[in-house]
Amino acid sequence: MLNVTIALEMKTSALSALGRRTAPPPISWLMQAALSRPKLISLAAGFTNNPTLPVEVSRKLLDRILRSPKTGQPALQYGITAGETNLRRLTARHLQKLDAVSATSKSHAWERVMITGGSQQLLYMTIEALCDEGDIVLVEDPTYFVFLSILQSRGLRARGVRLERDGLDLAHLEIVLQRLAKSGELRRVKALYLISYFHNPTGVTTSLAKKRGILKLLKQFERVAGHPIYLIEDAAYRELRFKGSDIKSALMVPGAAERVIYTGTYSKPYAPGARVGFGILPESLFATVQRIKGNHDFGTANLLQQLLAHALETGLYDKHVAKIEKRYGQKAQVMKRALAEHFPPNVEIWESGGGLYFWARLPKNIPAGVRSKVFQAAMKNDVLYVPGELCYADDPARRKPDHEMRLSFGSASEGNIREGVKRLGEVLRKFL
Ligand SMILES: Cc1ncc(COP(=O)(O)O)c(C=O)c1O
Repeated sequence: MLNVTIALEMKTSALSALGRRTAPPPISWLMQAALSRPKLISLAAGFTNNPTLPVEVSRKLLDRILRSPKTGQPALQYGITAGETNLRRLTARHLQKLDAVSATSKSHAWERVMITGGSQQLLYMTIEALCDEGDIVLVEDPTYFVFLSILQSRGLRARGVRLERDGLDLAHLEIVLQRLAKSGELRRVKALYLISYFHNPTGVTTSLAKKRGILKLLKQFERVAGHPIYLIEDAAYRELRFKGSDIKSALMVPGAAERVIYTGTYSKPYAPGARVGFGILPESLFATVQRIKGNHDFGTANLLQQLLAHALETGLYDKHVAKIEKRYGQKAQVMKRALAEHFPPNVEIWESGGGLYFWARLPKNIPAGVRSKVFQAAMKNDVLYVPGELCYADDPARRKPDHEMRLSFGSASEGNIREGVKRLGEVLRKFL
C-alpha cells in the first residue's frame, strides 16, 4: 500500500507554483537559433560592443587590487549585503554628478545606494518586495521583455501604457489608472516601470516634464489605492548617450525621492561580464530590499565591486565611457545609413540619441512576429531581429501589436550591421 502511495505521489511534480509557472525566456530560443546558424547575422542581441570592452583597463585595475594582501584579501572575501561602502559612496557621487546636485542632497545620499548583481537583481528584488501574486505593475507599451518575464513568473499582471516619441502618454496613463480605479483594482497596482533613457526596445527617452507628470498622477491615485505607488526608473542606458544632453532623473522631481526606485548599471557603460548594478531606494524600502538581498546572496561579488570602485576612483571609468559613447554613435550612424538605403520607405524608423537600438515599424497589416512570414524569411536569409511583439505585456485592453522589430547595433561589427540590414531590407521589399 505504501509503495502504491509513493508511486502515485512521484507522478506529481515537486515544483513550486513559481517553478511551474515560469515560462522559458522568449529570447532564449532566439539565441539558440543564432548559434545553430553560423552564417546568421544577429541584430537581435542586446550585447555590448566586444572590441571596446575594457580588457586592458580591467587588467591594470585588477593587478592593483591583487598586488598586495592588504588590498587583495578584502577583495577576495565576502562583503556587506548592501555593497562595499566605498563603491556606494562613489556611486552616489557619480549620480550626484549626473543629476548636478550637491553631495549633501538627501535624494542622492550614499546611504540610499545599494550595489547589486546587475540592475536585473534590483528589478527582481523590488518586485519581490512590493508585489504579491495577482498584483499589477504598469509598464510602457512596449517594454523590456525580461522585466515582463519577471512579472509572468511571479504571477503578476502587467498593464500597458502607450508610449510616444518623447515618453509615456500621460493622458493614457490617466485613463488606465481611472479604469483600474473603476474596476476596484487600483489597490493591486504597486508600481509603474519606466525605462527612461534610450528605452529598450524603442530608444525613446522620457523628458523630465513627463516624469513630473507621471509622479503627479501616481500620487493622485495613491489615495484611492490606499498605499504608495512607486515609480521604478530603470536608467540602464543613461550613460550610452551619443547625442543631445542628459536629462535629470526622476529623483530630481521635488518630493519624489520617497516614491522613486532608481535602478542603474555598470554593465552597459563598463562591462556586462563584471555585472555590477546599483540603485537608489526610498528610505522606507531600503531595509526590506536589503533583507531580501541577504537571502539572495548577502552581497554582490566583492572583487567585481572593487574593480568598479577602482575604475571610478582613478577616472578610468569616465575615460572609458567617453570612448564607448563615441563608438556607439559611429555604429548608430552606420545602421541609420544602411536603413535609409535598404529599407522600404514605408517602414517607420525610430532613431535614438543613445542606447543600442533602432525601432522599425512596418505598416500595421504586415506582421513581423515570431510566427510571421517576415520573421521566417529573415531567418532563411540569415538575419535575426527581436520581434516587437515579445515586448508587449499580455494586456486584455488591447491586441498585441506584431508589426515591429528591434534592431541592435551593439555587438555586430560595422560590416555585419550593413550586411544584416541589407538582408532584412531584401526580405521586407518582398512583403511591402
Ligand atoms: C532596460 C534594461 N534594464 C536592465 C537590464 C539589466 O542589465 P544588468 O543586469 O546587466 O544591469 C537590461 C539589460 O539588457 C536592460 O535592457
